[in-house]
Amino acid sequence: MKRIVILISGRGSNMQAIVRRCAQDAWPAQVVAVIANRHDAAGLAFARDRGIATAVVDHRAHASREAFDDALGAAIDAQRPDLIVLAGFMRILGAAFVRRFDGRMLNIHPSLLPAFPGLHTHRRALAAGCKVSGATVHFVTADLDHGPIVMQSVVPVLPGDDEDTLAERVLATEHRIYPQAVEWFVRGLLRIEGSIVRQTEGAPQLLR
Ligand code: GRF
Repeated sequence: MKRIVILISGRGSNMQAIVRRCAQDAWPAQVVAVIANRHDAAGLAFARDRGIATAVVDHRAHASREAFDDALGAAIDAQRPDLIVLAGFMRILGAAFVRRFDGRMLNIHPSLLPAFPGLHTHRRALAAGCKVSGATVHFVTADLDHGPIVMQSVVPVLPGDDEDTLAERVLATEHRIYPQAVEWFVRGLLRIEGSIVRQTEGAPQLLR
């Protein structure tokens, strides 16, 4: 059984999608803990209700980024995870932290990376007049919102869209591609070749 730790900062809808799919599709894996950097992260309640261990490592309780990274790293290590899943985790992690979990930490970002890393992706996609947008699941590297791409989804940008309508359309696809990417990882179906990730069975790494 692969042990998965999920990190959240807020509502945790991607975390919920992964927990549900893990149980429904009998992955050879278990979500062993959900860790948040805020006590008020709404997703914690879902995890508790499911009997999943939860922990909070509050970034405001640590004097420096390094101190926070160390505390978070210790909380993660205590779970002996095979995979760390960042699901709406809104803290930037230091290079040393990222290196420790190299090749076993995934993130989802609500844009078609490498376009629009960072915040306010939907606002920026709309302002740029993009005709498509989407989401990206990628392995985490020290470079924020970069790293080998596991899977992407693409959705149209429709006339009249605002940030909320576009975010909602993209989020619905996040809930499909993130569980898929995590399932491939836990089933050992991903191979990283330099900056390219291959699904070893040739399954489509694009959802449209
Ligand atoms: C998602 O759009 C994710 O891509 C981004 O933050 C949002 C988190 O949503 N990083 P949730 O907490 O998973 O509901």
